[in-house]
Amino acid sequence: MAKPNISIFASGRGSNFKAIIADQSLTCQLLVSDNPTAPVIEIAKKHHIPTFTFEPKQYADKASYEQAILAALKKYEIEWIFLAGYMRMIGPNLLNEYTGKIVNIHPSLSPAFPGKDAITRAYKARSEQTGVTIHYVDEGMDTGPIICQQPVPIHEQDTLETLQTRIQKTEHQLYPKVIKELINVKTLVE
Ligand code: GAR
Repeated sequence: MAKPNISIFASGRGSNFKAIIADQSLTCQLLVSDNPTAPVIEIAKKHHIPTFTFEPKQYADKASYEQAILAALKKYEIEWIFLAGYMRMIGPNLLNEYTGKIVNIHPSLSPAFPGKDAITRAYKARSEQTGVTIHYVDEGMDTGPIICQQPVPIHEQDTLETLQTRIQKTEHQLYPKVIKELINVKTLVE
């Protein structure tokens, strides 16, 4: 059976994007970014992965730029969308077209700390643990049915940086695995 085509949406650095495309069992057909200067775009170019980049302020509203995204997704026959640090809410246009096929990763144990700076907020709250959540996307902010969660401890001697590193390491291991399970791809290399 042919692998379904996937698109990754990202707004920034792209370490999760890098971890996904480093997995030899996975290929990404299209990177979508709302930030034309995001480092993730350079990573895609280096790996010859097509990109669709847009600036939201150049469109009248979310519906208009999501129409443009949809056209790009159609062109590449995309079946699944994986958000990897895409810092925008998904609107009804995309949600209706890709029902049950949009997934997000968030660096907390949802429902704790939705939105931006989740790691910093968990660190400052002096929680004993935080974690990583992978979930289907709905109209809320980092909400939607949870696919899997992995707790990450916060040690007393942690700095924000050591905690961030531990969480990102967890993300980079977990997300490619979950993507493969969701799209039913046999693992070539463990
Ligand atoms: C990741 O930690 C991801 O979980 C988070 O953005 C970071 C992107 O890092 N996403 C959210 O906070 C979503 N609300 P990356 O660009 O290095 O992959």
